[in-house]
Amino acid sequence: MAAAVRCFLMVAVGLAPLLAGAAGGKLSTRFYDSKCPSLQSVVRSATAQAVAAEPRMGASILRLFFHDCFVNGCDASILLDDTASFTGEKNAGPNANSVRGYDVIDAIKAQVEASCSGVVSCADIVALAARDSVNLLGGPTWTVQLGRRDALNASQSAANSNLPGPGSSLATLITMFGNKGLSPRDMTALSGAHTIGHARCTTFHDRIYNDANINASFAALRQQTCPQSSGTGGDATLAPIDVSTPTWFDTTYFENLANKQGLFHSDQELYNGGSQDVLVRVYMRNPDIFALDFAKAMGKMGSLMPSADTPTEIRLDCKKIN
Ligand code: HEM
Repeated sequence: MAAAVRCFLMVAVGLAPLLAGAAGGKLSTRFYDSKCPSLQSVVRSATAQAVAAEPRMGASILRLFFHDCFVNGCDASILLDDTASFTGEKNAGPNANSVRGYDVIDAIKAQVEASCSGVVSCADIVALAARDSVNLLGGPTWTVQLGRRDALNASQSAANSNLPGPGSSLATLITMFGNKGLSPRDMTALSGAHTIGHARCTTFHDRIYNDANINASFAALRQQTCPQSSGTGGDATLAPIDVSTPTWFDTTYFENLANKQGLFHSDQELYNGGSQDVLVRVYMRNPDIFALDFAKAMGKMGSLMPSADTPTEIRLDCKKIN
């Protein structure tokens, strides 16, 4: 991406530094400037280390942020472990056996606590690590609004009902993102996250055996490692979501859609003769427009907050309440 565009991006997304915040608070780009000046460099270097060790981890952290924000706001509720008396979100259908990166967030939190104890929320650490993950894998960067707080509760049922599944229709995707105040354009831009990362056979089995709008050789390629006999029951064999560059944040995801090589049924719904076809082609041909829209939509998603009466704290250990 051109340096001028990157620069514009940083500025544009950093505008309006104060947004409505968690539990009545305010989000601000400068929230930790005096309380924890080393925060952003600690998160950046720890994320860089994790992504260098395993590039897919960048994708996993990005998804972790999405799955946190869509369930009662970006409040780190997804990070809470189940206990004998508490059922959290980790074992909800969309998260169990597939959301990853918890250990990386715990490790970053430990490093942050070492220099700024009890000040930085786990929710803000996830937001920063997601931004850095995208950038470390070649995508845009943006200024993150900070000041989120960590919830004392979590909701497995909301995690089961608020997150879209890979069999979703375009209408369902538009409705589910609309329920979070995100436009169809935001939804299509955010779906561009599928330019990185991997998915289990069980999530795309139906698509590669039953969909008509799929490139035949792409379906055959995926069928090699996701056999028909595995059904949709639980085959965990992984495939890259972007067939060509799964560890590079670019616009090939949109090219794939134009070539009927979307891995999920829901991906291909964005380019199947419907309202998002034109935008898919715009993103495919204009990486800078995609980068701007993606950063803007990440800012909007990152501003989803728990309701004002949700009890919150700054967790000391992201896995459990204080
Ligand atoms: C539009 C609706 C979406 C649907 C239906 C969807 C569905 C899925 C599914 C089924 C997987 C594979 C999970 C598994 O293997 O069990 C996945 C992976 C992934 N999703 Fe989405 N997703 C959507 C939107 C998003 C958004 C908004 C983001 C982030 C901004 C995102 C980021 C990712 C990433 C990066 C991965 C790969 C994770 C890894 O390799 O660990 N997704 N998604």
